Amino acid sequence: MKPRFQSVPAAESIPIVVARDSCVADLNENKVDLVVGAYRTAEGEPWVMPFVKKIEQKMANDPKFNHEYLWFLGQDKFNTLAPRLVLGDRNPAILERRAFGVQTLSGTGALRMGAEFLVRHLHYKTIYMPSPTWDNHALTFHYSGFKDLHHYRYWDPARKGVNFDGMLEDVRKAPENSVILLHMAAHNPTGCDLTREQWTLVADVMEKRNLFPFIDAAYQGYATGDLDRDAWPVRYLADRGFELFVSQSFSKNMALYGERIGCLTVVLAKGRSEDATNILSQLTLIARATYISPPKYGAEIVTAVLSDPELMEEWKKCLRVMVDRVLSMRSGLRERLEKMETPGDWEYITNQIGMFSFLGLTPRQVEYIRIKHHVHMLSNGRANMCGLNDKNIDKVAEAIHDTVTKVHD
Ligand code: LMR
Repeated sequence: MKPRFQSVPAAESIPIVVARDSCVADLNENKVDLVVGAYRTAEGEPWVMPFVKKIEQKMANDPKFNHEYLWFLGQDKFNTLAPRLVLGDRNPAILERRAFGVQTLSGTGALRMGAEFLVRHLHYKTIYMPSPTWDNHALTFHYSGFKDLHHYRYWDPARKGVNFDGMLEDVRKAPENSVILLHMAAHNPTGCDLTREQWTLVADVMEKRNLFPFIDAAYQGYATGDLDRDAWPVRYLADRGFELFVSQSFSKNMALYGERIGCLTVVLAKGRSEDATNILSQLTLIARATYISPPKYGAEIVTAVLSDPELMEEWKKCLRVMVDRVLSMRSGLRERLEKMETPGDWEYITNQIGMFSFLGLTPRQVEYIRIKHHVHMLSNGRANMCGLNDKNIDKVAEAIHDTVTKVHD
């Protein structure tokens, strides 16, 4: 028989896979892994939050727990509670039944399902994403059928902050019905969010140009430690009357990475709650054609938390632990670099928020720090601050000092 697959070319490499693979292959016992965006404890270990363990034990001992399918759009209670988390219980969109959720395979599943829906049913084809953004955004929208992928300016390397004028100028150029992808909180990879005033100005442009906000809420609670405060941009846009999609993930904020639990939250226009039925019927087909139904285990855990005030309090405490640890690592790193008089202005490390710092190292500097010092990060200079701890922070600061002193391009 004639082989048929020889024409398949190798796929382009994925930056995070390249960085992770070289970290795994590095056998140096003092290597430092700042690659993947996952929380690590002060001991450098993954964290199962105590309340999650408690729920898991309860599930394991519950004679009624089973592994039946969820139905296509996931667990009903989860679908009611997840939108409330991002919009707030008293949000008019919730009260007027103009907002609903669909359980997805984490945040990426929500992006993918929402994007496919926009292509199939509204014939959208143009998306504007921040530059830089999480590298999977472009791939997900492209594979969902978006044809015109653009980036709006977001990061200003000189000021090490948001290039807001550039952003506004680029968003203003977007044709009507373009999707504008926005990070709700703790922007990945820059760690720089818009101020409330800036959100207001972006909303003015989106409203005037009839653009569609798709908000990636992968880090609710991770920016400030406060779930409500981090969700302000979504609540603000919903209050202004935008129709919008939100991709929610519980990977980072509940450390349920491998359980693939997320939600596509849909907010409809004022007075249009009746559109929900048809939209849900179409999302059902997308889910059924893709994976039939989403996984149950993560949905059970998140639902247990969101429906129990005591567990909610325990979760909030855990969020605070994570955020405080990251903040202390940020200030520790900045302090050390300033003490060594490392060339550069390091204040931005503590100005940035969330899991990542965009250290501003060039690809050559990233390569140097990896080979010479066994410190691993993404080639764009994104470093996971949770990978730092008391045992490795001196080494990382000295490695950055050596790198920026010796490598200049
Ligand atoms: C990250 O940004 O590091 C994570 O979301 C994991 C990934 O695959 O990109």
